[in-house]
Amino acid sequence: MLATAAKIPPMFKSYGLAFPWPVYGPVAFASGEAPEHQHRPVLPEETLRFLAPKSGGVYVDGTLGEGGHAQPILDASAPDGVVLGIDRDPRSLAVAARRLGGYGRRARFAHGNYAEMTRIAAENGIAAADGILLDLGFSSRQVNSPGYGFSFQRDEPLDMRYDPVGVTAADLVNSLSERELADVIFQNGEERRSRAIARAVVNARPVNTTGQLADLVTRAVGGRRTGQHPATRTFQALRIAVNRELEHLETGLAQAQELLDIGGRLVVISYHSLEDRLVKGWMDHASATCICPPGLPVCVCEHTPTLRLVQRRIVRPTDAERASNPRSRSARLRVAERL
Ligand SMILES: C[S@@+](CC[C@H](N)C(=O)[O-])C[C@H]1O[C@@H](n2cnc3c(N)ncnc32)[C@H](O)[C@@H]1O
Repeated sequence: MLATAAKIPPMFKSYGLAFPWPVYGPVAFASGEAPEHQHRPVLPEETLRFLAPKSGGVYVDGTLGEGGHAQPILDASAPDGVVLGIDRDPRSLAVAARRLGGYGRRARFAHGNYAEMTRIAAENGIAAADGILLDLGFSSRQVNSPGYGFSFQRDEPLDMRYDPVGVTAADLVNSLSERELADVIFQNGEERRSRAIARAVVNARPVNTTGQLADLVTRAVGGRRTGQHPATRTFQALRIAVNRELEHLETGLAQAQELLDIGGRLVVISYHSLEDRLVKGWMDHASATCICPPGLPVCVCEHTPTLRLVQRRIVRPTDAERASNPRSRSARLRVAERL
């Protein structure tokens, strides 16, 4: 039996969330075919240790997904801690709401972008947070489910949107100039063969499916590379561009800093070097006591740090987690505390 839109928990309605369900019909999984919770949260113990949830605390999970991190935060902040879960993907929110329905008003849901988290928090009566989590990118359910177009393992429309509104990956590959497409693939995918790939795509337009794109890229880069499908970087690049992920991450970090209470902590889990570089640069800048150019004899910047790095080094999954959850292999966690 398919889990359908008709089964949205009533609590969604109470938060006035508008879900454009008819656009994509049934939630894309069937009981017996794929379990409802397909995503295993990454670095769950470390996340909980750094956020150190307490009763009465207020937490924002800016990337709620299936609620895999939110649930232990709710448990650890019982009996009255609150988690506001934000996600751009209404399909993920529906899964999380079913999972967290038993927590009543302690679990709140918002369909939106973490880049707008201060506004979303205010709309939910939250002026300051004791902890904020950003677990970036996509979930296993999103990559495994049909309809998203994130995966080259299945031939389907080239979509790649978390939130099913606006520009798709097909729109991008069919409208950008060869030069623009090559730049997107190079900058967001760090793909050395970006020019050859862009040329192949432009010559084959229209390109409308994941299978078509994966084949074009494979031929353009000349077959399989060690350890990774040849289209991995191109797919990453387009997903980042379609969802404007790096732009939203930059805004989201600033919003998180604004929303955090003094002593509150921000935990960010990233999965590729572009994300991690941005998070590191931003945290280093916000926690620096001086941002003068190197070589000045005395400090003239009068920079006041707004964050303290809780861990100077990145936190990585243990060997045991990496072995049991392959998705965790590239994960890097950084954590900072609001001063
Ligand atoms: C890695 S998953 C989170 C998984 C979650 N921590 C769990 O354990 O179930 C990332 C989620 O962030 C969402 N997302 C991506 N960009 C977003 C953004 N700018 N604002 C809000 N949600 C976003 C995706 O739709 C996805 O559900």
